[in-house]
Amino acid sequence: MFETLPALAPDPILGLSAAFKKDTNPSKIDLGVGVYKDESGNTPILKAVAKAQTILQESETSKVYITPQGVQGFIDGMLSLILGKGNSALLANRVAAVQAPGGCGALRILAELLKRCNPETKVWVSDPTWANHIPLIGNAGLELATYPYFDKGSASIKFDAMMDCLANVKKGDVVLLHGCCHNPTGADLSNEQWRAVAELANKVGFLPFIDVAYQGFGDGLEEDAYGIRLMVDSVPEVIIAASCSKNFGLYRERVGLAALITANSKTRDIVQSQIQYVARGIYSMPPSYGGALVDIILANDELNQLWQSEVTEMRERMITLRKLLVDNLAAQGASKDFSFVNQQKGMFSFLCIAPEQVQKLRAEKSVYFVDSSRVNIAGINTKNVEALAAAISGVL
Ligand code: LMR
Repeated sequence: MFETLPALAPDPILGLSAAFKKDTNPSKIDLGVGVYKDESGNTPILKAVAKAQTILQESETSKVYITPQGVQGFIDGMLSLILGKGNSALLANRVAAVQAPGGCGALRILAELLKRCNPETKVWVSDPTWANHIPLIGNAGLELATYPYFDKGSASIKFDAMMDCLANVKKGDVVLLHGCCHNPTGADLSNEQWRAVAELANKVGFLPFIDVAYQGFGDGLEEDAYGIRLMVDSVPEVIIAASCSKNFGLYRERVGLAALITANSKTRDIVQSQIQYVARGIYSMPPSYGGALVDIILANDELNQLWQSEVTEMRERMITLRKLLVDNLAAQGASKDFSFVNQQKGMFSFLCIAPEQVQKLRAEKSVYFVDSSRVNIAGINTKNVEALAAAISGVL
């Protein structure tokens, strides 16, 4: 049976971590996988998470199964965080939701649900998009297509081309949008552009599918929810996949949320039964631990405040690192103007250099980032930035 299978190339993102670990160069620099790192290059457990772990340790009395939809407090807390407290869709009981094993688990069960709604569903993703969107959605059996999004030449969003493309998709097609901090480019829609996309969604009848994995890393927890809230307020049906990996630093705990905003509460109940059925058929129910921690943090004023201050600290540090990189590149006399990096948002930036240049950096300078030229901004620190800028300037 197994001899018929071909070996696959390493994952374009996770494969970088394995290659980085093997590299014996003491000056190696890891800007690959999207995890937050502090000045020492560590990814510490957030203080709010550590406190929630203590509370959970003392209060959890059983390891019996949790309910199929997950921890209800987690679901309610996350929906308030994403949609805003008192959101009208929530008050009208139009939101079906389950806790999912990470943002990936959420994306996959939502794709499986779309397949059950209509096996011919076509999903439009931005060009480029996060590499793992393709197998997560495509392996559910849905057709994928791309809409223009980012122009490497000018390092900016091709908004007109994007709108022209989306104006011609079919009614019922699905359009995947990044809620904030676009992965991999860091180039986000402005609020005005979000309004134009929402208007187009209603005109054409496409279904917005919003992936939000970096809420709080762009402009702030509230500001980063603008696009999602606008869609939910103005389009009758929206689907959302959210991740707690980055903003709660709960990467390995696999915590996410899959939510579907339906046109009315009767449909909501049907959709809730369907999404639970889909999850049951794949992993039965989500792991409880990470969701329980998020529930504790969001429900406790003191921990919530602490967590928000930690999100602010991570966001502000990444903004500082962008500037540090741009300034160091200029100081090295780089033959390209990288000032666009300061305008990009969140954890990633597209340096807009060629794959061959990225590969040369990896092979000759032990600087690791994705071939597309996506760098994890959080991997930069005051100790490595000068060498990094020199290495990048050297391959231009
Ligand atoms: C990334 O984009 O680097 C992260 O979301 C990690 C992953 O799973 O790819």
